[in-house]
Amino acid sequence: MSSLPLPEKVNVLLIGSGGREHAIAWRLSQSTHLGKLWVDSNANAGLLALGSACPEEFSLKRKYYLERWLAQENIGFIIIGPEGPLAEGMVDALENPERPIFGPTKAAARLEWDKAYAKTIMRQTSIPTPEGRVCTTLGAALAYVTERDEPCVVKATGLCAGKGVTVCKDKHEAIAAVRKCMESKEFGDAGNSVVIEERLEGQEVSVLALVDGRTITVLDTCQDHKQVGEGDTGPNTGGMGAFCPTPLLSDADLQAIARDVFVPAVDGLRRQGIEFRGVLFAGLMLTHAGPKVLEFNCRFGDPETQVLMARFQGDLLKTLWLTATGRLADAEFSFDPRTACCVVVCSEGYPGEVRKGLPITGLLPLSKATSSQAGALMFHSGTKAEKMGKIVTNGGRVLGPTALGSTLAEATRLATLAAGQITFPGAFFRKDIGHRIMNQVQTAK
Ligand code: AMP
Ligand code: GLY
Repeated sequence: MSSLPLPEKVNVLLIGSGGREHAIAWRLSQSTHLGKLWVDSNANAGLLALGSACPEEFSLKRKYYLERWLAQENIGFIIIGPEGPLAEGMVDALENPERPIFGPTKAAARLEWDKAYAKTIMRQTSIPTPEGRVCTTLGAALAYVTERDEPCVVKATGLCAGKGVTVCKDKHEAIAAVRKCMESKEFGDAGNSVVIEERLEGQEVSVLALVDGRTITVLDTCQDHKQVGEGDTGPNTGGMGAFCPTPLLSDADLQAIARDVFVPAVDGLRRQGIEFRGVLFAGLMLTHAGPKVLEFNCRFGDPETQVLMARFQGDLLKTLWLTATGRLADAEFSFDPRTACCVVVCSEGYPGEVRKGLPITGLLPLSKATSSQAGALMFHSGTKAEKMGKIVTNGGRVLGPTALGSTLAEATRLATLAAGQITFPGAFFRKDIGHRIMNQVQTAK
C-alpha cells in the first residue's frame, strides 16, 4: 500500500459520529480530491449535511457485508475517528492494498486501549510519565493505595470515554475509586485492572502528531478542559472546550517533546514489530520537572480536532492519505496564525446520564459550506436530524461552536457568545475556556 498515489477523486468513508468527525468532514469537503463522502449511519445532523449516511451501522460483526458494500460504493479511503473501532481491530479487518485506512492497527492502538501496556512501553523507552503501578486484583490495589501517603490517581486500564480516571485527594477517595472499578465494575471489563499513579500538578496540553510509520509531524498544541465545572472543578468529561495554539510551549519545547515522547513511543512499538500509522496524541502535564505523559490516544481528540481543523490550512484529505500511505514527508499544510476556541454545549447531567431528543433552538440552518453561525463554526456532536429539518439533542456533548480570534480572549468570547445562542432544556457550557492562560496574562500585566 505504501506510495499508493492519491486518485483525482476518491470516495471516502468517515467512521464516527461526533464533533471530531464533523470538523474532519468539514475540511475533507473542501478537498478537490473528494468524490462522495460517506458518514456513519447514526451520524449527527452536522455530518449528515456534509455526507451520505451508510445504510447500516459499521460493525465488524458483519465484515462480509461491509466488504461488499465498500466495493459496491467504490470506497477508496477509510478514515476512522473514534477509539472504539480501532480497539476492535477495524483497520486490521478492512485493510487492503488498494484501499488505505487512516488509523492504527489494533496492536498499535493498544497504547490507548490498555493503559497498563502504555505504561510499560513508557517505562521501557524512558518516556517521562508519573510514577505508578499496575494492579490486577482488588486486594493488591487496595493494599497499594492504603500504604501510599501521597495523593494518587486511579485509572481503569481499558477504554471509558474519558470517564475512568479519578484524581483522588486522599486515601478514602482512592479506596472508593478502586472499589468503583474493581468491585462494583462501574466501567465493566475496562476496570478489571487499574493503574495507580502519583498525582501531578500543572497545566495540561494535548500534543498530537501525524505518524506514517516513520515520519512524525507534530501539530500545533491544544489545551482541553476535562473537568465539567468552571474553574476546573467536578468530575472529568470527554472535554468541555479547547483552544489552540497554547502559548505554554515554544517550538523548542515541541521539538523536545517529539524527541522525548513521540520518537521513543513509535520506536518502542516498532521494536515489538508494530508500525504506527495515524495520529498519536499525548496528553501531557507540564510539571516543574518537565512534561510528563498522562495518557496516549491513538486518534484525534475531541474537542481538540474542532480547534485544529478551524486553523488547518491545506488539503486534509491529501494529508491524511499521505499519512496512511507512508508519505507524510510529502504533505504540505500549515495552521492559521489566529487562535481557535471551542466551547462545548452539554446536556443536563453530563458526564452522567442525560435525556435525549430535546429540541434545539437557536441553530441557524446547516449550510453545506461552513455551518458557520455568528462568526463561529457550529460543529455538531450529539445532535440528530429529525423529519422536517428539526434538530434534537442526542448525547451528553451536543454542539461545539468554534471561533477564531486574533487573541485567545477574542476567540473565547466569540465561541462563548455562539454557545449562548443555543437553547434546549438543561443546556449548559463552561464560560471560562482558556481561563488559566488568560489569568496568567492578566497577572503578568
Ligand atoms: P487520562 O485519561 O489518563 O489522561 O486522565 C484524564 C485526566 O485525569 C487528565 O486529563 C488529567 O486531568 C487527570 N489526570 C490523569 N493522570 C493524572 C495524574 N497523574 N496527576 C494528575 N491528574 C491526572
Ligand atoms: N479531549 C480529550 C480526548 O479526546 O481524549
